Amino acid sequence: MRPRIGFLGTGWIGRHRMQAMLDTGLVEAAALVDPSEECVAEARRIAPEAKVLPSFEAMLESDLDAVAIATPSALHAEQAVAALERGMAVFCQKPLGRNLAEAKGAIEAARQADRLLAVDLSYRRSAFAQAMVQRIRSGTLGHIFAADLHFHNAYGPDKPWFYDAELSGGGCLIDLGVHLIDLALWGLDWPEIETVSGRLFSKGQPLANSGTAVEDYALARIDVAGGRTITITCSWHLHAGQDASIGGAFHGTDGGTAFRNVDGSFYDFKAQAQAGTSREILCDPPDDWGRREAAHFAESLVKGARFDPEWERHLQVFHVIDRIYRGERQARTDECGASAGA
Ligand SMILES: NC(=O)c1ccc[n+]([C@@H]2O[C@H](COP(=O)([O-])OP(=O)(O)OC[C@H]3O[C@@H](n4cnc5c(N)ncnc54)[C@H](O)[C@@H]3O)[C@@H](O)[C@H]2O)c1
Repeated sequence: MRPRIGFLGTGWIGRHRMQAMLDTGLVEAAALVDPSEECVAEARRIAPEAKVLPSFEAMLESDLDAVAIATPSALHAEQAVAALERGMAVFCQKPLGRNLAEAKGAIEAARQADRLLAVDLSYRRSAFAQAMVQRIRSGTLGHIFAADLHFHNAYGPDKPWFYDAELSGGGCLIDLGVHLIDLALWGLDWPEIETVSGRLFSKGQPLANSGTAVEDYALARIDVAGGRTITITCSWHLHAGQDASIGGAFHGTDGGTAFRNVDGSFYDFKAQAQAGTSREILCDPPDDWGRREAAHFAESLVKGARFDPEWERHLQVFHVIDRIYRGERQARTDECGASAGA
């Protein structure tokens, strides 16, 4: 019998990843939950045999092997923990939580239940990221001393919940930066983090002065063991001159490797290795990378995979994000204190 998966949240990404899992032919869409009738109707086009359930609680009571979570970010950790405690495996959209404590709770629940938990950090399985990491690991780039990555989205999210920190955990840093920080730390094979600093802006103003707004521009500097530094910038609604500007590079003493999106695309990427003024193309589009983590989850489920402690390393990303957000919150408090005293 094929593993039975419940799909919780059937918005754009939920449906896309459901299709990716079903295309493997290995798993069954057994149940759907989404308060939006429109989203459920769209999901039923992909999985007409799936049962539509009234709530997540009903899903927890069902005979399922796994739950695929693609709800607003505030719900991810809580829903993941509840499903894992019921003995179900979980495929969770990023971010795993709004902060380190939530993400840690989900990983701990997976460990306790010894159930498969995977997060959809989809870029890791792209041809460009795989090619770059292979080149880094080959040792031919020498000592990698710096990495800088950026992700600027000229639009920003079109759903209101992304702009409410209670529902999203934050702005562009937790939405887009989470991918970049993960790629950089994964690329460098999870070095120990030494210091983190960052700055957040909203509509061109430092966030500390912007009330309850979430950031639409973020930059982070992460110094890691071995005298190496990662720099990250990301944004929503930036005047990027195209839909998106996404790219980055790892710089080594004997060479480097870099990637960038093609013609502003969110999906098409090129990667190259570079030495001095010469370059070698590592990969070109097309590459249908977005569905791979979901397909891999379906394959792992069939193989009976259990808790994978590798995911604990991803918690480092939340250490970075928490430190930046905490710093900003402190700045806001200081700002309020200064005004109150004036
Ligand atoms: N891995 C990636 O690269 C990637 C890409 C896009 C989005 N995401 C993440 O996926 C998540 C969803 O993003 P989206 O753009 O699809 O958002 P969305 O708003 O389109 O979808 C969320 C869906 O969840 C439903 N929902 C809300 N509350 C629910 C509940 N209690 N139970 C069940 N369903 C509920 C909504 O009705 C909606 O259909 C976000 O956390 C986002 O960060 C990840």
